[in-house]
Amino acid sequence: MRFLNYGSVNIDLIFTVDHIVKGGETLQSTSLNKSAGGKGANQSAALAKAGAPVFHAGKVGQDGGFLLQLLSSYGVDVSCIRTYEGSTGQALIQLDANKQNAIILYSGGNGQITTAEIDQTLQHFGSDDVLVLQNEIVHTDYLIKAAAQRGMKVCMNVAPFDPSVLTLPLELVDLLVVNEIEGAGLAGMQETPDFKAILERLVTRFPNSQILLTIGKQGCWYAFKDLRIHHDIYDTEVVDTTAAGDTFIGYYLASIARGHSIRQALQYASKAAGLAVSRPGAMASIPLADEVFYY
Ligand code: RIB
Repeated sequence: MRFLNYGSVNIDLIFTVDHIVKGGETLQSTSLNKSAGGKGANQSAALAKAGAPVFHAGKVGQDGGFLLQLLSSYGVDVSCIRTYEGSTGQALIQLDANKQNAIILYSGGNGQITTAEIDQTLQHFGSDDVLVLQNEIVHTDYLIKAAAQRGMKVCMNVAPFDPSVLTLPLELVDLLVVNEIEGAGLAGMQETPDFKAILERLVTRFPNSQILLTIGKQGCWYAFKDLRIHHDIYDTEVVDTTAAGDTFIGYYLASIARGHSIRQALQYASKAAGLAVSRPGAMASIPLADEVFYY
């Protein structure tokens, strides 16, 4: 099983602030770090660090060379990432004193991917492969349909959620991954602490898709048909929650590819995400396989 992650690649600009800036306010940050990110690229990094064979596809600008080098150094195959004249995607991240973040995205190369490039890339993949998607690039609808036609399995992390997601052919997605906000949006519900209600609504709406719902400190739920599995978080001291979800997804998929059960995969994914939040940054915070898997 190989993974093709068609996804965002971003340069993250991380501003450390006391609180998330309010409308009309000017705020000094105490530090600024430029680092590698993008939900797609983070998930590819997590897959590779976990030892899974992963190809990343997407688009970066001339300023994105360091991202390709970094992904390569983790073992990600970057031969399907194209370069163009404009800017790489950018994420302006505020990290507050409570270690919560707020993110503004500029799509850059993530918005310049074409359907012709998608066709060219997909021809190298088939029914033994898994397409991994997030909601930070264009043509996600096209990608889902084209991959399903080729018999590929599709995993979609519905992040960030926006109402356009509801128009995607999600019934073709084998594994839907959401947090509580994305899950509520996808279920057409208001945010509610009753996570089981969200989960049940998603199972009813997407009867052929496996659902993975992450709910912060309350752990995660897996659901498919009549099966429900809960797993607690791996508790660590939180330094930066950026890319926790991306780490969880990469390690979950890699664990399943290694032949672990769903329950074991949830355990490894939770441990990897717990380690990631105990470290600063996005891609850099993702742990290596040796730190996560028990041999
Ligand atoms: O999930 C974290 C990521 O979201 C960051 O790395 C940032 O680039 C945004 O895409």
